[in-house]
Amino acid sequence: MNLIETLIGKLQVHPKRFVFTDGKDARVLQAARQIVTRKMGAPLLIGDRTSIKEMAAKLDINTKGIRIMEPERSSDIDQMREQLRAIPRFADLSDEEIRDKSIEPSVFASLLLKSNRADALISGATTKASNALRALFQIIGTQPGVKTASSLLIIDMEAKEVGIHGALFMGDCGVIPDPDAEQLADIAITTARLAHHLTNERPKVALLSFSTYGNPRHPSVAKIQAATELAREKARQVNLDADIDGDLQIDAALDRATAQLKKTEGSPVAGDANVLIFPDLNSGNIATKLIHLLSGANKYGQIVMGLNKPAVEISRGATAHDILGAAAIAGCQAIDHRLLFGMGNNAG
Ligand SMILES: CC(C)(COP(=O)(O)OP(=O)(O)OC[C@H]1O[C@@H](n2cnc3c(N)ncnc32)[C@H](O)[C@@H]1OP(=O)(O)O)[C@@H](O)C(=O)NCCC(=O)NCCS
Repeated sequence: MNLIETLIGKLQVHPKRFVFTDGKDARVLQAARQIVTRKMGAPLLIGDRTSIKEMAAKLDINTKGIRIMEPERSSDIDQMREQLRAIPRFADLSDEEIRDKSIEPSVFASLLLKSNRADALISGATTKASNALRALFQIIGTQPGVKTASSLLIIDMEAKEVGIHGALFMGDCGVIPDPDAEQLADIAITTARLAHHLTNERPKVALLSFSTYGNPRHPSVAKIQAATELAREKARQVNLDADIDGDLQIDAALDRATAQLKKTEGSPVAGDANVLIFPDLNSGNIATKLIHLLSGANKYGQIVMGLNKPAVEISRGATAHDILGAAAIAGCQAIDHRLLFGMGNNAG
């Protein structure tokens, strides 16, 4: 059974509340219908009720079991505004500014998540990634001990011998433009931890580069080699049982024959990687979209890592199935909230 079907099975036992910031988007409506039909929980769509109903009618989608929330007309809006004002960075805003900010879909949805009126948030279908991420960073914030949030994306290949039964876990393809070695090590650890949590398989983490065991005189190679050492140390500190290696080129990471040719004997990762860490956002974002466009593989994400609550920032090119899969991943993070997010901040 593939990864997403396994996760949907878990949600059918522990259904969750999913808030979507782009309620009237056709793909979001289709994913929401699936969540109800497959008994994964309750979808909550943010947006104008009339437009959402019109779109649903146009698509012949039954909205039974789908909740619609218009921020400005919501019975929770006063409490949401108080919560917003209670966040230090918004404390000095005027009443009018608070009123306007609180009804922005990304902000209102983040406030619902923060106050436990939703368990997982899905944004980005029609909004720029930066806007969706800013609201999450400013309202939900990062877990204790985590300075920088990042993201992971799962590519689910037809070729089941690649990665973990066809699933490759890739980070950070959506948030940090130019991570330093410390941030790359954090990305490697958070990505590997979730890969293990979702699959119960041993993470084999490759820190990617244009070189394989290259010359550290080049600053980018030196960064990857430093990040590899830091990631191994952090894995020991958090008792994460994983193999970590780098700098590795993508072919040496995924192809056994090439790995041999490139003298990576003894590497527990080369030729067998299932977690891929990209040196920067350009390479990560380009690679994931290229794989998707050329192979048609499903892609689930961006799963935002390091936040206090489960959230997804999907790309504007996502299909309804990609959105359902990403929601299932965030929903399963919510099931294991204490384990994945610690005890803190569950009280909103
Ligand atoms: C995420 C992003 C918008 C943050 O940019 P930025 O210029 O740092 O944004 P701001 O300075 O407005 O930061 C807003 C807040 O988020 C915080 N923040 C920014 N990046 C963060 C991160 N990675 N982790 C945690 N918090 C972060 C800032 O500290 C700031 O907090 P404050 O307002 O409480 O002081 C920017 O990194 C970005 O655009 N990333 C790429 C997104 C993208 O296009 N991805 C492609 C998707 S397909």
